Amino acid sequence: MQKIIRILVVTLALIVGSAVMGQASPVKRFDPGTQTCRILGFDSMWWGDGAKIFQNNCKSCHYRNNDKGAKFLYAESKSPEAWNRVFFKKYPQCAKDGSWGALSVNDQLKLNDYLYRNGANTYNPNSAADCG
Ligand code: HEC
Repeated sequence: MQKIIRILVVTLALIVGSAVMGQASPVKRFDPGTQTCRILGFDSMWWGDGAKIFQNNCKSCHYRNNDKGAKFLYAESKSPEAWNRVFFKKYPQCAKDGSWGALSVNDQLKLNDYLYRNGANTYNPNSAADCG
């Protein structure tokens, strides 16, 4: 009986511990398209260029309750890896039918940086990358 309780306590401690450690906002991104390592600086912050590009080129359709048949999207809709796939494979219908318009390669990189940095489960107030 005591042994079971000890196992339970240790398991619980591990679960709580891993939740506290969590992930943190990434500081680098490997871009498979250009085969380069991108350092995620100001442009990738929520007030930076990437966020503006998202607002001006994607949120025109992907806002809540839109009538364009596009689902609501924000940075946390996908994990960083999933955002990388969106830009590397260009699989969404809108990337293929020209809805991404005249986004330059550089703008796509900045947008990818922003979405990657702020993707699902990246924010962790208990990490040095995100606190303060
Ligand atoms: C003209 C409207 C329009 C614009 C602009 C647009 N999209 Fe889309 N997007 C759509 C539609 C319609 C679909 C297909 C339905 C769906 O899955 O939301 C789609 C699908 C997607 C999907 C697939 C959804 C999923 O669950 O994986 C992603 C990702 C996406 N768009 C990202 C973007 C990004 C990033 C931009 C900006 C560069 C953008 N879209 C701009 C209309 C648009």
